Amino acid sequence: MQNKILIIGGNGFIGSHLIDGLLEKDYKVRVFDITLEKFRKPNSKIDYRISYQNNIYDLLEAMIGIDIVIHLAGTTVPSSSNIDLIADVNNNLITSLNILNLCVRQGIKKVVHFSSGGAVYGNSEVLPIEEDHKKNPISSYGIIKSTIESYVQLHKELYGLDYLIIRPSNPYGPRQSHTHAQGVISTFIQNAYRNEPLQIFGNGTTRKDYIYIKDLVDITIKLLEFNSIGIFNIGSGKGTSVNEIVQTINKTMNLKTEVIYSEERNYDVKNFILNINKIRQLLGFDFEFTSLENGINLTKEWIFQNRILN
Ligand SMILES: NC(=O)c1ccc[n+]([C@@H]2O[C@H](COP(=O)([O-])OP(=O)(O)OC[C@H]3O[C@@H](n4cnc5c(N)ncnc54)[C@H](O)[C@@H]3O)[C@@H](O)[C@H]2O)c1
Repeated sequence: MQNKILIIGGNGFIGSHLIDGLLEKDYKVRVFDITLEKFRKPNSKIDYRISYQNNIYDLLEAMIGIDIVIHLAGTTVPSSSNIDLIADVNNNLITSLNILNLCVRQGIKKVVHFSSGGAVYGNSEVLPIEEDHKKNPISSYGIIKSTIESYVQLHKELYGLDYLIIRPSNPYGPRQSHTHAQGVISTFIQNAYRNEPLQIFGNGTTRKDYIYIKDLVDITIKLLEFNSIGIFNIGSGKGTSVNEIVQTINKTMNLKTEVIYSEERNYDVKNFILNINKIRQLLGFDFEFTSLENGINLTKEWIFQNRILN
């Protein structure tokens, strides 16, 4: 019988795709979130629990009968995390510690923590970055992600709680919000449709790792199926510059967008490409990643079909 899974923060971008992948594999899925999904109607196969992750009683109840807890709820991104450090600790670190404690109390078999491939390593001189590279976060977001990782590992040491720590690169695709805060690809496609200039921080040449959302979700589910334990980078293993993203969007949409270059932001990691040998070995080397062109095309189609352009 398939494991029963609770996804905390499951109605956001990554969670909504994870739900699809898990339901396809016949997992029983319960979602704990403060809201329903933004872009789709509720799914009758999901057991929704609408509440805040700092409500310990509701969380405890949501964990009854659950085997695996996937933790996706987060209230900040690198750009917003430095505004109020204490709020960031309270809303993201303390809540995560509560979740870990409750997992132990409820006899959960495994916890899956979505950390960050960009934010925990910071600016690395060695590329691509392996999982055992030293951590050097440069934002409160990165410090908290990294600290939660340490607590996840401590819970394994102290209480035997198995874990998966996922360090995703930059996922993109349908249902990502286009708020400029996170998700340069979705934001730029949206800007391009509206005929607005694209804003690039820095000169657009630094290279980052982008992964199409379905690839991230498929690999995460494979890790669950293989009963993997430990820390895993999940990215494409390739570096793409923002200038290249603009070129690909222009080509895919047959446009010539205006670009405005602004000053670099100090919380942005400059170059990061993940070393994905660990997942490659596990998945087999024939795993096919979605190309940037295809991924941008699929994202563009979704934005257009859903007419979320206003
Ligand atoms: N999207 C990315 O680029 C990216 C990259 C690396 C890591 N991550 C991490 O993956 C996780 C999921 O990211 P996402 O892009 O799906 O984010 P998202 O903002 O789309 O989804 C987060 C969900 O958490 C819910 N949530 C927020 N506060 C909550 C609370 N107090 N109680 C209950 N639910 C709450 C939100 O309603 C939302 O549905 C986050 O931890 C994020 O830091 C994301």
